[in-house]
Amino acid sequence: MKDGIENLTTETGAGQWGTALAMSCNLFGIGCTVFMVRGSYDQKPARKTVMNMYNATVHASPSDQTEYGRKVLKAMPGTVGSLGIAISEACDMAINHKNTKYALGSVLNHVMLHQTVIGLETIEQMKIGEIEPDCMIACAGGGSNFAGFAFPMMGRKIRGKTDCEFLAAESDAAPSMTSGKYKYDLGDTGGYTPELMMYTMGHDFIPSPVHAGGLRYHGMAPLVSAALDQGLMTARSYSQPDTFRAGKIFAETEGIIAAPESCHAIKAAIDKALEYKAAKEERTIVFCLSGHGLLDLNGYEKFLSGKLEESSV
Ligand SMILES: Cc1ncc(COP(=O)(O)O)c(C=O)c1O
Repeated sequence: MKDGIENLTTETGAGQWGTALAMSCNLFGIGCTVFMVRGSYDQKPARKTVMNMYNATVHASPSDQTEYGRKVLKAMPGTVGSLGIAISEACDMAINHKNTKYALGSVLNHVMLHQTVIGLETIEQMKIGEIEPDCMIACAGGGSNFAGFAFPMMGRKIRGKTDCEFLAAESDAAPSMTSGKYKYDLGDTGGYTPELMMYTMGHDFIPSPVHAGGLRYHGMAPLVSAALDQGLMTARSYSQPDTFRAGKIFAETEGIIAAPESCHAIKAAIDKALEYKAAKEERTIVFCLSGHGLLDLNGYEKFLSGKLEESSV
């Protein structure tokens, strides 16, 4: 704002990052344009309303608002879009408009860093509860939620202060860590970003339109990818129906409707608990419930009526 920036552009999948940026732009008196992946935009229209309440402009991506969006629409009419395409559109708009900058909501190192507020807070809460975790679990789309949650404790592990293990849960619709290649790849589809060293499905990969829209990213944050490559953590991928089943169990037992992304962490936590139980090991699992699912009731409705699609590539 002090530099004269009048507008920020960004992408959003599930809509959480778009909402966060919309709210902060509004507080600073800066305009905010959000490219929301078409699949998610159609699945949860109320998310757009939330962003509009904070005065953001929201476009379903691919859109006719950018040259890149128009190119994609021509080549793939009716596409559900992807985070990679939405990032390209947000970059395209920033490049072609005065006093406009682009802000990325995940993947990059500085985003991992500011998200560590989650893990630092978790450590404080564990102190209050006198908990020493044996396993920490979070879902991963671009990786900032997982990194933010796990990295402060992983730092302790690197310094030999804990034996805690770390598990990232991803969608089998975009299984970059469990089925992708570790190589340099573009952060977006259109080639506006630099290449990043990461686990990737390839930058033009378009995942199936799972309700966990925030996990539909083709790659994985370079820092999370490096941690995986160095054996500091492991990753598992889960199908859409399995994660919704886990979400149903969580609603029944805890009363909380979790976001479809968070259901991946719940599924991993249940599986891990059952594995410890079978081995007769008493262990403490701490997992991150990254969001609520009250704007995802269409997805839950489909699940309850047996109409939820499979997700794997
Ligand atoms: C509820 C929720 N959890 C987790 C994520 C994962 O995002 P990332 O791994 O990019 O931080 C998202 C992304 O949209 C989300 O909406």
